[in-house]
Amino acid sequence: MEVKLRIRRFNPEKDQKPWWGEYTLKDVEKTNSILELLHRVKWEQDGTLTLRRSCAHGVCGSDAMRINGVNRLACKVLIQTLNADRTIQVEPILGLKVVKDLVVDFEPFFEHYRSVMPYFVAATSTPTDGRERKQSPEDRARFDDTTKCILCACCTTSCPSFWASGEYVGPAAIVAAHRFIFDSRDGAAADRLNIMAEPGGVWRCRTIFNCTPACPRDIEVTRAIGEVKLAIQRGVR
Ligand code: SF4
Ligand code: F3S
Ligand code: FES
Repeated sequence: MEVKLRIRRFNPEKDQKPWWGEYTLKDVEKTNSILELLHRVKWEQDGTLTLRRSCAHGVCGSDAMRINGVNRLACKVLIQTLNADRTIQVEPILGLKVVKDLVVDFEPFFEHYRSVMPYFVAATSTPTDGRERKQSPEDRARFDDTTKCILCACCTTSCPSFWASGEYVGPAAIVAAHRFIFDSRDGAAADRLNIMAEPGGVWRCRTIFNCTPACPRDIEVTRAIGEVKLAIQRGVR
């Protein structure tokens, strides 16, 4: 089949403002992904098209973009899931500065991620008997969902509260905080809850719910945010 792509282009070294590039591709299979089509545009029509990707299998989280107005991973969207009669529109994700074409500056996103202490802090000193720290299956289940995050930023860059203020840490950082706050072996939950209660923390979330359907890992993002809010209100995790 033939597919038309409309891609948001911007090269800060020569463009005054962003513009739309239109590309027609022939012999497209319905099982092709958007990433494969972007590769074809780059390799067959315009080598200057700039995008970020690595695994091509929904694992690395590096090819988040806005496809027909919705944040998705380009490697996970197949043509057969879209209306190919309509021109497919591809843009960079919103709320982060565009570096070039579909590549945005992730540094503010990772700065927020780092601010929530996204690492394990042992609650007690290393067991002297050389054995592991025990955790029941029920306690493990409390944070199972939020371990799945691949830091793609689809959630944060679909959140109107984040668009309104870059001060908001955003849903991805809260998901990272949740993963450790609810880990029974961790000893820094109180510190993370204090960070979450700051002006740029969870209370900036207005429960708009854009983040949950945007997540390619099907993490219940809004639910995780709600659990962190409750833990702050109750003072316990
Ligand atoms: Fe991506 Fe989901 Fe993690 Fe957000 S929570 S960064 S959408 S994987
Ligand atoms: Fe934003 Fe999701 Fe909250 S879209 S406002 S973080 S529920
Ligand atoms: Fe790795 Fe798409 S290229 S998730």
